[in-house]
Amino acid sequence: MSSEETLLEIAAEVAVCSKCNLCKGRTKAVPGEGSLHAKILFIGEGPGFHEDQQGRPFVGPAGQFLDELLDSIQLKRSDVFITNVVKCRPPNNRDPLPEEIRACNDYLDRQIAVLKPQVIVTLGRYSMAKFFGSEKISAIHGRARKKDGYICIAMYHPAAGLHQASLKNVIREDFKKIPLVVAEAQRLAAEGPITMPASSQNKDEPPQQLSLF
Ligand code: URA
Ligand code: SF4
Repeated sequence: MSSEETLLEIAAEVAVCSKCNLCKGRTKAVPGEGSLHAKILFIGEGPGFHEDQQGRPFVGPAGQFLDELLDSIQLKRSDVFITNVVKCRPPNNRDPLPEEIRACNDYLDRQIAVLKPQVIVTLGRYSMAKFFGSEKISAIHGRARKKDGYICIAMYHPAAGLHQASLKNVIREDFKKIPLVVAEAQRLAAEGPITMPASSQNKDEPPQQLSLF
């Protein structure tokens, strides 16, 4: 199967998925979208009202801010790939439950495996938890780390900037670091696949921080 076929296959499975209770309240599932050749994968939390209506990620107010942020680093949506930890909207936008995240995780892992992004940007605490465990966003936001063989940056969720004005500029500043991290990731990729020392593959250990940052 080509990468494109694999992504379409995942989207088709998500559209009819009933692996968790979120299937009951959804209008449309939101598998995610973007470039097959994306160097950057953004992972949010889950669809909200507008996403559920349209079947597309980040198309509501948080999405408008994300568009502004992408524009600030000369990127378009079509240059990147955007998805979420859970692909169906939690009722009343409540937080996704651990069992829902677990049920949906395989789709995200398959998307990551097929896209092989150079950089993964986590938006908010649920996608952060996948790569950074229980670390605090206030401590690690905007910093690149190698984790699970990928270079990841944890960011505040764009919606947090809408609710809390003081965070808006923090998020803007964090975003400006992305091009530098991508450049560094490209340099590392040119040197060969990222190989993690066996000791750092232990999930209990803190992720490595890139020397650059
Ligand atoms: N918030 C998210 O986390 N994801 C979306 O797709 C929209 C809003
Ligand atoms: Fe399936 Fe994920 Fe939707 Fe749950 S949230 S029904 S696991 S696609």
